[in-house]
Amino acid sequence: MDATNKIPRHVAIIMDGNGRWAKKQGLARILGHQRGVETIREIVRTSREIGIKYLTLYAFSKENWARPKREVDFLMNLLGEYLDSELEEMKTSQIRFNVIGKSEDLPSQIQSKIKRNMEETEKNTGLLLTLALSYSSRVEITDAVKSLCEQVKKGHLQINEITEGHVARELYTAEIPDPDLLIRTSGELRVSNFLLWQISYTEIYVSEKYWPDFKKEDFLEAVQEYQKRERRFGRSETSMLPS
Ligand code: FPP
Repeated sequence: MDATNKIPRHVAIIMDGNGRWAKKQGLARILGHQRGVETIREIVRTSREIGIKYLTLYAFSKENWARPKREVDFLMNLLGEYLDSELEEMKTSQIRFNVIGKSEDLPSQIQSKIKRNMEETEKNTGLLLTLALSYSSRVEITDAVKSLCEQVKKGHLQINEITEGHVARELYTAEIPDPDLLIRTSGELRVSNFLLWQISYTEIYVSEKYWPDFKKEDFLEAVQEYQKRERRFGRSETSMLPS
């Protein structure tokens, strides 16, 4: 890792391939999710070590509710166990825990654990770890539009005053800078309804590895690849040179 080069401030990850990983080993899909949690631990630890400030993980999409009940129940149990088992570690390593998405859709005992972990880590000043749960970017944007319409209706805002900033402040990520790097595992070239507004200028890195096989060195390789990229935000190369 070249420490002189820029570490991405915010990394977002689409953790894909748990099911295929399990199938490859001749195991039940759900065991792929279990192994996936090990990868989450390794990537959170590595993010802290290299000084990433924001890590956002796509753990459960709004669309994932349509999976077989057995798989959904298993994922919810795993999530509950994760929230319990990681709380001490979050507290001692200054991780601030956060959730985006429709957390009201989650089982009530999961909602309580989320609330507990968020409250008990809210004063921490290290990595902000965000799990996207029951998350849909289109729902997030639609809710933002509704909220702005309400403000216009009440006369608190004029239509012609609405800026990108107004929209951004209505999103779940209002307090979080846009991702610098988006990683997707298992070789799929899709963004799957994840942070659609926020990734407008994000660098995308796709790893062929399934999520349970994605290790510290794969993560560091993604960061190194990011460091080699030139980010232009829509400008030309010359317009970025100091005048
Ligand atoms: C995609 O694999 C993975 C998910 C459904 C989300 C990630 C979930 C975990 C890593 C485990 C649970 C998370 C927590 C925080 C406890 P897939 O099932 O879509 O894989 P496939 O595309 O190979 O079928």
